[in-house]
Amino acid sequence: MESYKELLEGNLRWLVDVKKANPAFFDKLAEGQSPRFLWIGCSDSRVPATEITGSMPGSIFVHRNIANLVVHSDINLLSVINYAVEYLKVKHIIVCGHSSCGGIEAAMSGKNFGFLENWLNHIKDVYHYHFDELQKITDERDRSDAMAMINVRQQVWNLSKVSFIRDKWEKEDFPILHGWFYQIRDGMLKDLNVSVNSVEQSEELSLLV
Ligand code: CO
Repeated sequence: MESYKELLEGNLRWLVDVKKANPAFFDKLAEGQSPRFLWIGCSDSRVPATEITGSMPGSIFVHRNIANLVVHSDINLLSVINYAVEYLKVKHIIVCGHSSCGGIEAAMSGKNFGFLENWLNHIKDVYHYHFDELQKITDERDRSDAMAMINVRQQVWNLSKVSFIRDKWEKEDFPILHGWFYQIRDGMLKDLNVSVNSVEQSEELSLLV
């Protein structure tokens, strides 16, 4: 069997299970989406937003890229955030990093990854600022996990500077930005406690990044 066909067959098994548990599930979804969360995560296949949060389709609006970066000139990311905030009225935006992140490890390795360097340079900038504190961590795996957490903090701060998010905060306390970390070894999600929903809190976070 062609390997890709297992995905189509998996879909059939899945939809039968879902319908068995909730016969109206797909009829309801077909009416539209009203997710309450926006997830900015890594493209890594081991960190799918819905599965690891025990959620179903329809619950989380998602943007993923290598190492869950918030790059201010990324029109794709900005469009996803703008749609989520202005039209879907999402109240919570979660930036989620994870352990053993290939993007983080590549940026820390000092090796040349060709075209990918253009993206990895964003991570290398963060690594550069925190190089001394990270060098104190001797275990390689712990060091890359620490860098992944630092990166989440940085990306939450980047997010807190997006123009239309700050516009929102002038009128209300939403959206609330969160930074989370997913440990692949045990499947556990952790809140890094860097939540922000005002310019003042953004300025406070700037002292940590
Ligand atoms: Co990753």
